[in-house]
Amino acid sequence: MSRINPILVATLLATGLPVHAEQNAALDDEARGIVKSFFSSLKGELVASLESGGPVEAIKVCNDRAPALANEAAAASGWRVARTSLKLRNPANAPDAWETAVLRNFEASAAAGEDPNKIEFSAVVDQQGQRTYRYMKAIPTAEKPCLACHGKTLAPQVAARLKELYPDDRATGYAAGEIRGAFTLSRPLQ
Ligand code: HEC
Repeated sequence: MSRINPILVATLLATGLPVHAEQNAALDDEARGIVKSFFSSLKGELVASLESGGPVEAIKVCNDRAPALANEAAAASGWRVARTSLKLRNPANAPDAWETAVLRNFEASAAAGEDPNKIEFSAVVDQQGQRTYRYMKAIPTAEKPCLACHGKTLAPQVAARLKELYPDDRATGYAAGEIRGAFTLSRPLQ
């Protein structure tokens, strides 16, 4: 598990967000469990839809089901659960200052050779005076199924449908193994 990384703590302090040098293994485990079940339901629905209807049809899963599954995971756990990225498809998934700093750090860790499948970070931060536990886990792309909709060359119908739904889409041009974004979770602490 990522222990508090001194470089990242410095980056976060530079954003003006206080960070407590505090770790909580139980919350880390809970966060990992929420991510695992959210990701496996999303991936399951995505792969099933790709197999039955192809990539244009499967865009619906990402468009409707990804936010719905995130909301279900949030309702079941009481946490905030979302996905974010530095290169967004849906502007509603935009990162806040903390998430931006962590995503940049994830990019730097991957560039330094860390396995993107294992990159994660957690910290207790103050958010408007509320002590809050925050957790992020990198989401690398895999050749299949991700690059059909996030790769360098998309089928024309896929590109056209994405353009319709997301006129400002920046989430294409990826190669396998690159960090597409991150799961981002948080919950207030006492
Ligand atoms: C069938 C097309 C399709 C496939 C395949 C696909 N995505 Fe996406 N992806 C989308 C769409 C559409 C969105 C926008 C979802 C929304 O509106 O919240 C999206 C959004 C995301 C986001 C949220 C951040 C953002 O840019 O809005 C991440 C992270 C992401 N995808 C990662 C992946 C990964 C990793 C894979 C492979 C496991 C994958 N996607 C496969 C279409 C796809």
